[in-house]
Amino acid sequence: MLCLQCETNPTWINVANAHHDLILIDHAHCEKKAAAFGLSMINRYPGHLKLVHEMVDLVKEEIEHFELVVRELESRGITLTRDTGNDYVKELHTHMAHNEPDRMLDLLIVGAFIEARSCERFSILAEHCDREDLRTLYRSLLASEAGHYRMYTDIAREYFPADRVKQRLKEFGAIEAAIIRARTDKPTMHG
Ligand SMILES: [Fe+2]
Ligand SMILES: [Fe+2]
Repeated sequence: MLCLQCETNPTWINVANAHHDLILIDHAHCEKKAAAFGLSMINRYPGHLKLVHEMVDLVKEEIEHFELVVRELESRGITLTRDTGNDYVKELHTHMAHNEPDRMLDLLIVGAFIEARSCERFSILAEHCDREDLRTLYRSLLASEAGHYRMYTDIAREYFPADRVKQRLKEFGAIEAAIIRARTDKPTMHG
């Protein structure tokens, strides 16, 4: 799917089905962090107008998703506990370039991979979650996350040569796949 070089371990869905509450809580934090990442990109690159406009749209959409998941939690009587961090994202960040403009390209590529993997996980939940209402929720979010993947890669191609973007997508594809293969089926969105 998209730029992903490996599929999620087929046993992850069993863990997700055994912990709907934890998946929803982690999902809420993922949406919040996706919005925060968009704001941080505006903060870092305020002179890049295409990036700024696209990030404004992204931030609005992600914060709406956050609200949707918060309401879902509320309706189930589940309290949104504190964010415990996302080691999948942290690990991706360790492979990013430190100097500009390579850093900007890597931030966009990492953003694209997080969206693509989230989209893959949503499609698994949309099909195999054992609760009908949750299948409906994830189905409703699928298209927008796939759109976010394309948005990050489009911004990258606006500011960097297409060949370089393609090469970095391939390199990060291998890195991301290795991180995913080493996962141990945790009840989180990228677990
Ligand atoms: Fe989202
Ligand atoms: Fe997204």
